[in-house]
Amino acid sequence: MREPLLQEAPLLEGRGVSKRYRTPATKLFAREGGIWGLGNEAGETVDFAVRRGESVAIVGESGSGKSTLLGMLLGLGTPTTGEVRFDGSLVFPRQRRDRMLWLRRRTGIVFQDPYSSFNPRRTIGQTVAEPLFATNAPGNHREMVTAILDRMELPKGSADRYPHEFSGGQRQRIALARALVHGPELLVADEPVSALDVLVRSRLLDLLGELRDEMGLTLITVTHDLSVVPRLAERVAVMRDGVIVEQGSVEAIFERPQETYTRELIAALPRLR
Ligand SMILES: Nc1ncnc2c1ncn2[C@@H]1O[C@H](COP(=O)(O)OP(=O)(O)OP(=O)(O)O)[C@@H](O)[C@H]1O
Ligand SMILES: [Mg+2]
Repeated sequence: MREPLLQEAPLLEGRGVSKRYRTPATKLFAREGGIWGLGNEAGETVDFAVRRGESVAIVGESGSGKSTLLGMLLGLGTPTTGEVRFDGSLVFPRQRRDRMLWLRRRTGIVFQDPYSSFNPRRTIGQTVAEPLFATNAPGNHREMVTAILDRMELPKGSADRYPHEFSGGQRQRIALARALVHGPELLVADEPVSALDVLVRSRLLDLLGELRDEMGLTLITVTHDLSVVPRLAERVAVMRDGVIVEQGSVEAIFERPQETYTRELIAALPRLR
């Protein structure tokens, strides 16, 4: 058993994180120019932490920096400022030669729009095996892939077929299989159910919840749709214009939103009850 104090330590933590993208145009015309993906002109940055076993949702309108925040937390890009740690180890700043395999082994990602993250010429089996291959995971990869595809309730023989042969909902399950095949501790899902119809979406949300419990996952879900939040999170962070404008328990944020922006997001929800 771990000490209670250690359980309180965050699994993933970012402090003072910002990201300013440099576009080709701003590189040419203004040395200091760029687009704020995270943080803002006023020098505000983002602090974000998730404890082991916790489920957190990040919400906010399009362009508010949700995907950028995930990218910085998972070492997929280089923050402009800040420090990121996973289980105490530095994700950023990092050693030049660190290929971050240790982090890939312990995390799984469902990318926003998974279809574009699938190679159309690779079979589903090859696609889902990617994290096993990339991290040189022990065990029989083929068996591991088949087991996770079965768990995702995909048809038998899916491993030998290609992405275009599947529906949108099935492709989301394939993306989820790829994110979980190597048994990560943290699952990060960027808009896992957007663009799916109501029933498919509902079943996928249930499945995600079941897998989280079965695998003891820490879960970060990004969504611009607040109706997803109570189903997949106990805590929520609201983003706007590159910063977190408020965060708290789902009940607190839904019942007593402090920011006008959050109230508007909630008001835009179709009535659930
Ligand atoms: N690779 C990039 N290069 C330049 N600018 C980028 C890049 N990625 C994101 N941005 C910009 O950074 C800002 C935040 O984008 P981000 O994709 O993080 O938003 P988001 O909250 O995930 O939006 P959405 O809900 O539409 O997915 C936007 O202004 C966006 O145009
Ligand atoms: Mg996004």
